Amino acid sequence: MKKSLSTFLKGVIICLIASGFNACSDRPQANSTTNAMDQRVDSLLSLMTLDEKIGQTIMYNGTWEFTGPTSGGNRWKAEKIINGQVGAMLNVLTADEIRRTQALAVDSSRLGIPMLFAYDVIHGYKTMLPVPLAQAASWDTEVARLGSEVAAREASAAGLHWTFAPMIDISRDARWGRIMESPGEDPFLGAAMAKAWVEGYQGDDLSSLTTIAACAKHFAGYGFAEAGRDYNTVEVSMHTLYNVILPPFKAASDAGVATFMNGFNDLNGIPATGNEFLQRTILKDKWAYDGMMVSDWGSIPEMIFHGYAMDTAQAAAIAMKAGSDMDMEGRVYEKGLKAKITSGEVSEELLDDAVRRVLRLKYKLGLFDDPYRYSDSEREKEELLSKENLEAARDAARKSMVLLKNETNILPLKKEIKSIAVIGQLAASKDIPLGSWRAQAVPNSAISLVEGIKSAVSANTKVEFAKGYTLTVGNRSFGKELTIVEDDKTGFKEAIELAKRSDVVVMAMGEDCYQSGEGRSQMDVGLKGSQIDLFNELKKVNDNIVVVLMTGRPVAIPDLATDANALLETWFAGSESGNAIADVLFGDYNPSGKLPVSFPHHSGQEPLYYSQKSTGRPINRAENVFWTHYTDGPNDALFPFGYGLSYASFTYEDLKVTGSGESINIKVDVTNTGSVGGEEVVQLYIQDVAASLTRPIKELKGFQKIFFEADERKTIKFTLTKDDLSFINDHGEKVFEPGDFRISVGSNSRDLNTKAITIN
Ligand code: BGC
Repeated sequence: MKKSLSTFLKGVIICLIASGFNACSDRPQANSTTNAMDQRVDSLLSLMTLDEKIGQTIMYNGTWEFTGPTSGGNRWKAEKIINGQVGAMLNVLTADEIRRTQALAVDSSRLGIPMLFAYDVIHGYKTMLPVPLAQAASWDTEVARLGSEVAAREASAAGLHWTFAPMIDISRDARWGRIMESPGEDPFLGAAMAKAWVEGYQGDDLSSLTTIAACAKHFAGYGFAEAGRDYNTVEVSMHTLYNVILPPFKAASDAGVATFMNGFNDLNGIPATGNEFLQRTILKDKWAYDGMMVSDWGSIPEMIFHGYAMDTAQAAAIAMKAGSDMDMEGRVYEKGLKAKITSGEVSEELLDDAVRRVLRLKYKLGLFDDPYRYSDSEREKEELLSKENLEAARDAARKSMVLLKNETNILPLKKEIKSIAVIGQLAASKDIPLGSWRAQAVPNSAISLVEGIKSAVSANTKVEFAKGYTLTVGNRSFGKELTIVEDDKTGFKEAIELAKRSDVVVMAMGEDCYQSGEGRSQMDVGLKGSQIDLFNELKKVNDNIVVVLMTGRPVAIPDLATDANALLETWFAGSESGNAIADVLFGDYNPSGKLPVSFPHHSGQEPLYYSQKSTGRPINRAENVFWTHYTDGPNDALFPFGYGLSYASFTYEDLKVTGSGESINIKVDVTNTGSVGGEEVVQLYIQDVAASLTRPIKELKGFQKIFFEADERKTIKFTLTKDDLSFINDHGEKVFEPGDFRISVGSNSRDLNTKAITIN
């Protein structure tokens, strides 16, 4: 009887939905108007009980403990799905498993509403692209767009609908482990990357089988955690919020990102998850954002720990009122929301609005047409780690690398060189280059630096490896603390002998990939263990040392900046790491990356960023100490934002800044004075000299990545409008204030040609 009743009900429902969802069996048309979609969503909503509505706002974890405490075993989750009380799941993997889990909702729940399946596809699903910070270092939006396109192709083939990316938290503190996931320190570059990442994941049609819904996270301020300690308090001024933190999110919203995620942090005293000002006033009202807001993992109940909610029920009420549409593994909406709604404390209209946002996304993904459409195990086999995807990963990786030093043009190395000593544990690692947040990367599957060098050199070149130092021991896994070994020098002797008898040393230095990422903040951003000691020993026996850095954050490496002959920052470059590094070392690719973050001399300088305020005492008063500076070290960056060398070299001349009204025309002559062709990122900065709020001494307002043949000279042009010279005041209003501006163009944020102009 029960079965036939439910079958009967579903028949009725299908007909009712069909009358809205395009006469019976027809699929929703791609060109359906928003209005039609909304009507269809409303007709479904009208059939739902309060429990079923709340169910749509609930997301459960798939199987294992991921980044926080889970809600226990799994059997009961199946029951909840069958009862129509689960809207989405994360961490359910493979096309087959997703199909199986989806069937619980579609075949057994009363309304058969499909679930969303989500996963952290941060820089690739199985094929690993370089980490996001590295992609930003390409200053090439195509790298970002193609990277997330590859990730979306693989993830969708594995049955997924939705990724929790891009992470677009501007971060200016190298101590914060999640800087690795971010586009770096600058809002302009961050906004450009955010747009490209969203476009790559989503394409122009969410219902396409090769695209997935993106998620702009973490809204907002998470990258400004005090002292760089993950999950810590965030206190920022309104103008920093508007002018620095929000621009990438605005860009993602404008690019049509399907979802947002709030964050673990509080912002000026209010947890982001319960923050009505962020989620409703700014996002949903001012920006008219009609997508869905998911909480971060358990961030709704964490409001109790923040001391902002008394208990689960209050946390549920606060989050729903504030605009958090979905509860990720917090189990608070399921426990606390119903009572708050029936008591009238939370209006059912707010819940309806949240449910509509969830259903619209399901509709746009085509799940009401065919809930299993992404679960195609044949396509999954073909797509994962395909040749095309690996080639894209190699290209993205080499475009992301930043050449920091190249004394006496030691690079590029000749492929015919007689002997190369490859030294350092990281050089042989096939795992560390895969990075943190590595989704389904196969452990130990990256091309190591040793392998990359061996396949690049001539048959006569002798390539020998010595480990030299031991960087880490202990539990190398996503959720566990690493133990860093500080004093293991047993490999030094072998490495020194090898360096002595080799023409050149390529030394890999840096971090384990699990030193950065979530929960991986560090007090000290210098290199750990005995790496520098070994470098100093090698330097005594060989004066041709090329250092290949592998890091997920800016590192303090003043000794290397002075003593290495060449320094190449390769970040965590992904599956094709070794090949891509060899492409750069041997000149098959001329490096073109620029730093998206400032590198400090010392951890004590953090947070460090180029876009500082002047202060009232910027001037070096040699006769006394009363100006803004450190007494025991430099103020400036070791390598500034925007910095990066090429095997070509570029000069900037004849900067012209004209115009006064609506458009300011900027021209500069750039010449490649080198003997090889190469790309340069021409950067444009402004300074608003006097304003009603103190403004930064430099702000990036444009960049162009351009190829120059050897000896080629080009006039590069930019146009700025009053809008570009404006800023957002503390009331959230964009204002242009006439007056004096400085316009600078150059190769990085430090080496600039500047002209003054008055704009009225
Ligand atoms: C992270 C999010 C992530 C989520 C789901 C959280 O710990 O902060 O960025 O998307 O876990 O894995």
